[in-house]
Amino acid sequence: MCGIVGYIGHREAYPIIIKGLQRLEYRGYDSAGIVLYDEAGTKLAKTKGKVEDLKKKAEDTISTTGKLGLGHTRWATHGVPNDTNSHPHYSNSGNLCIIHNGIIENYESIKKELIKRGYTFTSDTDTEVLVNLIEEVKKTEDVKLGKAVQIALNQVVGAYAIAVFDVNKPDEIVVAKLGSPLAIGIGENEYFVASDASPFIEYTNNAVYLEDEEMAIIRLGKEIKLRKIKDDAIAYPNILELQLNIEEIEKGGYDHFMLKEIYEQPRAIQDTYRGRLLADQGIIRMAGIDQNLEKFLKADRIIIVACGTSWHAGLVAEYIFEDLARIPVEVEYASEFRYRNPVITEKDVLIAISQSGETADTLAAIKMAKERGAFVFGVCNVVGSSIARETHAGAYTHAGPEIGVASTKAFTTQITILSLIALKLAKEKGVMSDSKFHEYLTQLENVPAKVERALKSNDAIEEIAAVYKDSPNCLYLGRGFNFPVALEGALKLKEISYIHAEGYPAAEMKHGPIALIDEQMPVVVIATKQGHYEKVVSNIQEIKSRKGKIIAVVFEGDKVVKEIADHVIEVPETEEFLSPLLTTIPLQLLSYHIALMRGCNVDQPRNLAKSVTVE
Ligand code: G6P
Repeated sequence: MCGIVGYIGHREAYPIIIKGLQRLEYRGYDSAGIVLYDEAGTKLAKTKGKVEDLKKKAEDTISTTGKLGLGHTRWATHGVPNDTNSHPHYSNSGNLCIIHNGIIENYESIKKELIKRGYTFTSDTDTEVLVNLIEEVKKTEDVKLGKAVQIALNQVVGAYAIAVFDVNKPDEIVVAKLGSPLAIGIGENEYFVASDASPFIEYTNNAVYLEDEEMAIIRLGKEIKLRKIKDDAIAYPNILELQLNIEEIEKGGYDHFMLKEIYEQPRAIQDTYRGRLLADQGIIRMAGIDQNLEKFLKADRIIIVACGTSWHAGLVAEYIFEDLARIPVEVEYASEFRYRNPVITEKDVLIAISQSGETADTLAAIKMAKERGAFVFGVCNVVGSSIARETHAGAYTHAGPEIGVASTKAFTTQITILSLIALKLAKEKGVMSDSKFHEYLTQLENVPAKVERALKSNDAIEEIAAVYKDSPNCLYLGRGFNFPVALEGALKLKEISYIHAEGYPAAEMKHGPIALIDEQMPVVVIATKQGHYEKVVSNIQEIKSRKGKIIAVVFEGDKVVKEIADHVIEVPETEEFLSPLLTTIPLQLLSYHIALMRGCNVDQPRNLAKSVTVE
């Protein structure tokens, strides 16, 4: 799970590749590397650390000229993150140079074979094995680079997005994809290669996304040639016009992407329902649902699969679908679901939720459900992503690029779209009265302004953060629709501040976590005045009587909790099923401020990556 960037054309490759890698650091940031080619030959710089470290190293150690180049930012799978294991990797002869995102699973047996033939290896990576396999094929079969790549890839098992060039033929880059994303940007007599379109968006809007098992030969002055890796059959490039805009992927005055993305939520939620929610007409219009309505209405159940924060959005959706649309829902971790031989029938609808649309486990769960006959619907943010393409139908969240590794606006926009779907199905099934339906549409339309108001507690939350920034542990409690919000709040805190945090349904506290409560333990409780309010108030009393510290998230005007909690954060009142869209906001801000005060890298927490394209 890494980011790759390549360039060939009339401009200097170095600045394009460095900036591109910085935009792709969400995919991994253990180490980085770059290779450039000019008449003097190739120049390589690589280093453990971030792209910023690479930039320093490259500018100190190599000449950064050249109109052909490849760059890589790594999230280590095989081999520790160090300079040697960083990409790009040369083949033994020094003629071929490769960058790779993915895993070659059978690399050890290939490596043994290559060692027998005299190859030596300097790194521990599977990638160095692949580039030498390509070299061996090229030599023994006496074929051009494109053909050698194709033959070699037919011998490997695993996942890859690769870009490789031959220093003796520097007008050409060969790329290939299976399981990891790869986009080609097409400019005027120049080409770009990248894991997503962000590295080239200021140069061209025209892009081709390779399909799995496709490769392309990119030659200057020629049109790109697409081929199927399996049988060499010609494929035809589907050139898309991208809508991405450069301001959207920069920080826009905020100190961190995470903070920018937290503050973007009113706009992002609005963008999610724009054109879909027509409150004045009492209509929800969603092509993916409209065209497949029967599948949803006849479904025995809905299975939701996802990972991480998207899984938490799925849990919220379970409460919403069951309560509003009366459809049974099961929510599964994609990684568990795909391996446990689940019972899936043609009467199941599977909803896959994924911000990136690239999460390997979610993608595998989709493929399995499709094979077993389920109808598969995707909820993704990244347009044209693998999951968006693999599903039968879907709906984009339109949250805009989410760069901060800790997911924020993706979560609230996923809940927004899932609420729209549940409301639409409730209406179509006839289980919700017209008046309720209209009321809920209006309530949903009011959410962005309420989120805006919730964000105003930022300063007060910063003060609370200062009190608890050194706590080693933190407990999060919520009930009903807000139980998944407790899980998400705990995940946010541990992801970016490295404080151990647990989320629990408030009533479960008695069955274990209560043993942890003492005067050192901060407990964040979501206590909105709905549903199980009195019961949550009792839980708060139980914590207080054991001297725990309460940070309560309540609706504006709450009096009861204010009396007993140590700190109270108010959010505007809304319908119970929409309350996660508001109660989540202070928890995001709390984790942001605590992480910042602890000196953590908020946007790029250690060991994590934005998009997990490996198992
Ligand atoms: C990674 C990210 C999380 C994200 C999860 C699922 O772990 O760090 O923020 O929630 O993957 O990603 P997806 O793109 O499928 O929503």
